[in-house]
Amino acid sequence: MKAVILAGGFATRLSPITKVTNKHLLPVYNKPLIFYAIEKLVAAFIDRIIIVTSPWHINDFVNLLGSGQGFISKNTGKQIQIVYGIQNEPSGIAQGLYIAKDYIGQDNSVLYLGDNIFEDDLTSYIRDFQEGAMVFLKQVEDPRRFGIVTVDENNKVLEIEEKPQKPKSNLAVTGLYIYDKTVFDKMIGQSTSERGEYEISYINNLYIKEEKLKAVLLKKEWFDAGTFDSLLQASCFMQKKYREKEDKN
Ligand code: DAU
Repeated sequence: MKAVILAGGFATRLSPITKVTNKHLLPVYNKPLIFYAIEKLVAAFIDRIIIVTSPWHINDFVNLLGSGQGFISKNTGKQIQIVYGIQNEPSGIAQGLYIAKDYIGQDNSVLYLGDNIFEDDLTSYIRDFQEGAMVFLKQVEDPRRFGIVTVDENNKVLEIEEKPQKPKSNLAVTGLYIYDKTVFDKMIGQSTSERGEYEISYINNLYIKEEKLKAVLLKKEWFDAGTFDSLLQASCFMQKKYREKEDKN
């Protein structure tokens, strides 16, 4: 299993702090946001990662992360591998994933949106994944900001609507997806949405049609650190965790 971390986009919701830097390089308490993604994946035994970002910021990522120095594989005890892909324009999450197609090859893949932070341990889901797709859900207070699922009485996902005006639930699809190798075929012929993006929800809905999408409800904290408030909340949460850990030692 390889992983794709998406770290592009303009992050206009965080302007002006993202005017000259990339959102994923901003601090969340004591480290850059992107570290949380890499560390969570490495903890789940992933040791090959492609970071897809914009041409304007790729040098900063290379300066910060190099080829993965400082991140140790749980499989080999040696440095993990980090490589890079360039997304010329932020035309959608599915497009960002497509840039990693050749790197992923015939493997299964984890797609991790680089502004997300997960407290749940993801190891078993990633390790035990075989085919189809898996998404991770969390209840939210502002469903119009997210991909929102409709579920039946048995909690089976029937549909995902991207940023619905009239949300049918408050269960959001978070920024972590596990896919089998058919994911890239599903992008053939995909059109952009009304907001001009190649939506990942479109791909997930194709897996639903094939009855191959599994949904897991997250139990612990989750942050989409793409707004001033959520970025601050994530920092405060990490500060508290860090202090609790220090007090124990
Ligand atoms: O955080 C979960 C949500 O993420 C999901 O509920 C939505 O279904 C999904 O569309 C996405 O919505 P956002 O509005 O939060 O997406 P955003 O544009 O903020 O981008 C998410 C991450 O992906 C962010 O780290 C930037 C990166 N990205 C995004 C786009 C559109 C790219 O690298 N390239 C892109 O073209």
